Parts: sequence; C-alpha cells; structure tokens
Amino acid sequence: MKTNTMNASTATDSKLHEFFLDQLKDIYWAEKKLVKTLPKLEEAATSQELKDALRNHCEQTKQHVSRLENVFNMIGESADSTKCPAMAGIVDEGSDIIDETDDGSAQRDVGLIFAGQKAEHYEIATYGGLVQLAKTLGYNDAANLMSQTLAEEKQADALLTQIAEGSANRQAKREPQSSW
Ligand SMILES: [Fe+2]
Repeated sequence: MKTNTMNASTATDSKLHEFFLDQLKDIYWAEKKLVKTLPKLEEAATSQELKDALRNHCEQTKQHVSRLENVFNMIGESADSTKCPAMAGIVDEGSDIIDETDDGSAQRDVGLIFAGQKAEHYEIATYGGLVQLAKTLGYNDAANLMSQTLAEEKQADALLTQIAEGSANRQAKREPQSSW
C-alpha cells in the first residue's frame, strides 16, 4: 500500500516536472528571442528615454537567459528551447508597429511600449507560475533565481508605464495624423 502511494506520488511529480520543464523551454525560447529583438526596437524607438529603457532591459534579458540555463542545470536537465508562439506573435506585432508608424514619431513609441508591455506581461505570467511550481516541486534555488527575474520584469513593465504616462502618449496626441 505504501509502495503504491509512493509510486502514485512519483508519477504525479514526474508529470508536474515535465510540465515545469516544458514551460522552462518556452520561456527560454522567449528570452533568447527578446535578446535578438530588443536592439531592433531600441533602434526604431524615437525618444532617448525609451531607447535607454529598451537597452537596459536587453542587458537584463541576457541575464535572464543565463539564469534559466542555471535553472535547467539545477534540476538536472539540459538547456533546451521550444518555440513560444505567444512571444513570436508579440514580436511580430512589434515589427508591424515599426512598419506602420513614421520614423521619429511619438506614435512609434506608443506602439512600441504596447508591444513591450505585452512581452513583459507574458513573461510575468510565466515566471509567476514557474516560481510557484518550483516551490511545489522543491526546487527552491530555482525559485529564488526566477523570483529575481520576475521582479525585474515587473520593474521593466512599470518603467514602460511611466514613459507612456510621462511623455509618449501626450506627445503622440499632439502629433499630426500619420499613417496610423
Ligand atoms: Fe526577461
């Protein structure tokens, strides 16, 4: 009886471990995609404030990638990624915004902030879940590491809100009608 219970528990843990691993691979792909994408958004952005925010977050994102590599290592798995269709879609939206707005416009920044915040919210949702699940599975070091990333994603999101409210939205409202 005791053995059966243990087997059942191990099977459940293993399924949960597999789910945890799938989500890790998803966010690993997403973070690596962002490392490539953020410099393009920085180049396209109009205001120095937004460019700085995107550059700083790109540096943080590189750290998020290496933290995830540590997490894979901590749980005895090799670092591997699977395409995250959600982040791929958000990145495509970012490209559309660049195509559809004028260079040097505040409207460009408003759009890029939207895309950036969508990316942050996706990451916040994923890391939030991963931190909780890591604790449940007893991966406490991994939970601590991902908590640091989660806090940085929340800060990045708050900074984008600040830029939108502080200047970008109002400046865009004053701009003449563009192609948007
Ligand atoms: Fe990140």
